[in-house]
Amino acid sequence: MDSGTGGLSVLKEILKYDAELEVLYYGDLYNSPYGEKDASVVLDLTRNVCLRLVELGARAILLACNTATSAAAETLRKEFAIPIFGMEPAIKPAVLKNPGAEIALLATPVTQKEEKLQRLKKELNAENSILPISCPGLAGLVDQGDFEKAEAYLFPILEELKRRNVKAIVLGCTHYVFLKHIVLKLYPQAELFDGNAGTVRHLFRSLSVKVLPPDSDQGFDGRKKNSIHYQIELNTDDEDRIRFAERLLNDREGF
Ligand code: DGL
Repeated sequence: MDSGTGGLSVLKEILKYDAELEVLYYGDLYNSPYGEKDASVVLDLTRNVCLRLVELGARAILLACNTATSAAAETLRKEFAIPIFGMEPAIKPAVLKNPGAEIALLATPVTQKEEKLQRLKKELNAENSILPISCPGLAGLVDQGDFEKAEAYLFPILEELKRRNVKAIVLGCTHYVFLKHIVLKLYPQAELFDGNAGTVRHLFRSLSVKVLPPDSDQGFDGRKKNSIHYQIELNTDDEDRIRFAERLLNDREGF
């Protein structure tokens, strides 16, 4: 689940694999974006989506949203009987690869503020090297498919990072993963980090899902590659938004 279309970047990662798996994606577009709401509201919204997913037969849930994870994962893990996975901004690989350097973290205001991130920074001893950049409104632009406005939004941020010579940038929101090409166009020297690939590997390992790696050309028992079945539910009637979400998922070149 995600507040909107961002989690489709995680679904895209899942679909690179060949596995015995059924995925139901729920994008809460009606309530999107989550990142500028009160954490208690995000908890309620995330809980409602999880209840719906359980009703539909889910046996594990991935909060494919850093904001929902920050505000809700701990509580919902106590409330639900099935495993609940979450996302975490990929600051660990960024810090390990760039020891001592300043690292930019682009994330929603909720993710930046919540306790979960403060704990992670502390664990990594990175409280002073992480430059938090809250991006209210940016995820909403992705949901609206307004990449032009997203580029204008990112421009001054990236100019400032260039000025400070900050090259390592963590995309701490699953929506922003769809903006990678814009970030690299504006700042070709940037080194981007996101948690999608690591989260998906962790998910498969924890659930003991038998998978073939993304570059394998053989399916299990002769089955075809990419046999993961998926369904997308977006709680909106807006046909343009639904079409755009499909484009995000299927476009291999652009995003
Ligand atoms: N995709 C979500 C995340 O990873 C948040 C976007 C939002 O709803 O503000 O943080």
